[in-house]
Amino acid sequence: MKIKILTLFPNMFNEFIGESIIKRAKDKGIVEFEIIDFRLWSNDKHHHVDDTPCSGGAGMVLRPDILIPAIKDNSCSNTYKILMTPQGRLYKQNIAEELSKKDEIMIICGHYEGFDERIRDYVDDEISIGDYVLTGGELASMVLSDSIIRLLNDAIKKESHEDDSFQNGLLEYPQYTRPIEYDGKVVPSVLLNGNHKDIRRWRLKESLRKTLKRRPDLLTNRKYTKEELELLDEIKEEEDGEK
Ligand code: ADE
Repeated sequence: MKIKILTLFPNMFNEFIGESIIKRAKDKGIVEFEIIDFRLWSNDKHHHVDDTPCSGGAGMVLRPDILIPAIKDNSCSNTYKILMTPQGRLYKQNIAEELSKKDEIMIICGHYEGFDERIRDYVDDEISIGDYVLTGGELASMVLSDSIIRLLNDAIKKESHEDDSFQNGLLEYPQYTRPIEYDGKVVPSVLLNGNHKDIRRWRLKESLRKTLKRRPDLLTNRKYTKEELELLDEIKEEEDGEK
């Protein structure tokens, strides 16, 4: 199996791939690693990879015009591309088993506050290792790699794994940064009009929509505000309209 890791901090992987079972699996040719620094895809003088969020807010957002070309240039049709994010499906042993059957996986590690939402269209999967936020995806990518490699034939004795078995309670709304248009995909116009009331309401609504779709379990005992109930009605009407 080949594991490609896209990161801004390649040195973080030196110890991980140079020690213990992972090193042995590498030396035996069971797994091959390629650690790729996606800062190399930044053309500007200071090699910036992120920008401020469209419409304001705290932190920085990873730019699509850097990460998407880096993903494309380093993958082929049989590369299974995984984005490490707290908004992904919750990592479980059955997912490790599923991934251990792939020939080649690419793990994309974000850093700072988040990614431009459009990056999501260029990956096959999004995985979270738990309901907490790390400063970046690097440690999470190591958790994934480690749990996958130990399942590969001959990495460890078969018997050793034969018996193995978030602020306001909502997922974060979609984030965007420049460019406003990339690859035909545009930033939603509400984020560009500077109307903070509209933006706040849009964000709450999209947070609700994502949470409903991805983690309805988080909403089970939620005490909704009047505004949230209105937004849920709007979402329901929109979805009914799409059917
Ligand atoms: N990046 C930041 N937090 C994360 C998490 N919980 N799982 C995967 N990637 C992450």
